Amino acid sequence: MKLAKKSVLGVALSGLISLGAQAGNVEVLHYWTSGGEAKSAAVLKQLLEKEGHQWKDFAVAGGGGESAMTVLKSRAVSGNPPSAAQIKGLDIKEWADLGFLTQLDAVAESAGWDQLLPGVVSDVMKYDGHYVAVPVNVHRVNWLWANPEIFQSVGVDIPKTWGEFIEVADKIKDAGYVPLAHGGQAWQDATVFEAVVLGEGGAEFYHKAFVEHDQATLTSPKMVEILATFKKLRNYIDSDSAGRDWNIATSMVINGKAAMQIMGDWAKGEFTAAGKKPGTDYLCVAAPGTSNAFTFNIDSFAMFDVKGSGSKEAQADLARLIMEPQFQETFNLNKGSIPARLGMPRANFDSCAHTSMDDFVATSKSGGLVPSMAHGMSTTSAVQGAIYDVVTNYFNSDSLSAEQAADKLARAIKAAI
Ligand code: GAL
Repeated sequence: MKLAKKSVLGVALSGLISLGAQAGNVEVLHYWTSGGEAKSAAVLKQLLEKEGHQWKDFAVAGGGGESAMTVLKSRAVSGNPPSAAQIKGLDIKEWADLGFLTQLDAVAESAGWDQLLPGVVSDVMKYDGHYVAVPVNVHRVNWLWANPEIFQSVGVDIPKTWGEFIEVADKIKDAGYVPLAHGGQAWQDATVFEAVVLGEGGAEFYHKAFVEHDQATLTSPKMVEILATFKKLRNYIDSDSAGRDWNIATSMVINGKAAMQIMGDWAKGEFTAAGKKPGTDYLCVAAPGTSNAFTFNIDSFAMFDVKGSGSKEAQADLARLIMEPQFQETFNLNKGSIPARLGMPRANFDSCAHTSMDDFVATSKSGGLVPSMAHGMSTTSAVQGAIYDVVTNYFNSDSLSAEQAADKLARAIKAAI
């Protein structure tokens, strides 16, 4: 039995006498600092505080989480990691392998996580058969966000292939708009690149390149072609893009300055926070050529070993709360993603989320469901970093031809494996 943790007296008592529940502190490292993201993180903070615990916010700004991971490493190396951290994908196994993470099996078993999660999600959360992380959502990465007014005024249709994208983008550019809202950061370049790989290569090709790291695929004529298409997109980005944050790029689509953005559905969190409605104020469609595929990116929290029963209890409560329906719904309505938990009611979600939910199920059957390279799902952070370097250098300078870039990509991956 838990104390009525809402009352101040209850909280004080739980600290003084051991009646079961104890209030504790949870320091939570995350990188959710944009408008939509901050609203989403606040949902978890509120739920945890309702249980009488304290949330110590450890937000490290920087889309895609590279900066947050650097800070996390330095804290962990100095023996002072936070109690919970937004770690995902293959990084979870790396941290577990180093012995930093706490097992969450007790919470997982009592709530029946194995029955509540699709295998593709629970696999990522486990190390050696034990839960060491808890999923908050499933993001789809291969989206195109569009401003319908610009399309209407220019008189063009939403592109369904990368070839069409280029045709449409030329006309939008001629009409004086920025065709592609983009921020020049390595992870954003990689996010667009993987969408072109998926759209022109298909799911099998994508898998061979980013999961299996097959050298023949990486150096194939198809990859050279894809790299050439990718490079063309540079023509449709404005000259102020260097270093721009992704959410600033999203606001260019919201404000009618830019026509499109290729970004995961955390972008929807920005449209939602701005009070915009899908279908009328903005459009969400699969990135060109990817309507039969789904690049997944699962956000999750891993728990570090902490001392003190209060802290341990707070940590276990955090893990439990994350998987509860209330959190999975409210958080994901704000975040733009869909719940990780199966069987959630759909009614409160919008049409983009419904498309995502349907496509997640359909692609998991068809073979179109693939892990995002740019967001740490398909490969180790070392390989991901190697891909980022080649992709971003190629995209932002003219020093390499598409053939040279393919060759460099293959070599960089081979060296990083
Ligand atoms: C992704 C992450 C999302 C969102 C985005 C921008 O990698 O999974 O939750 O935060 O980066 O930072």
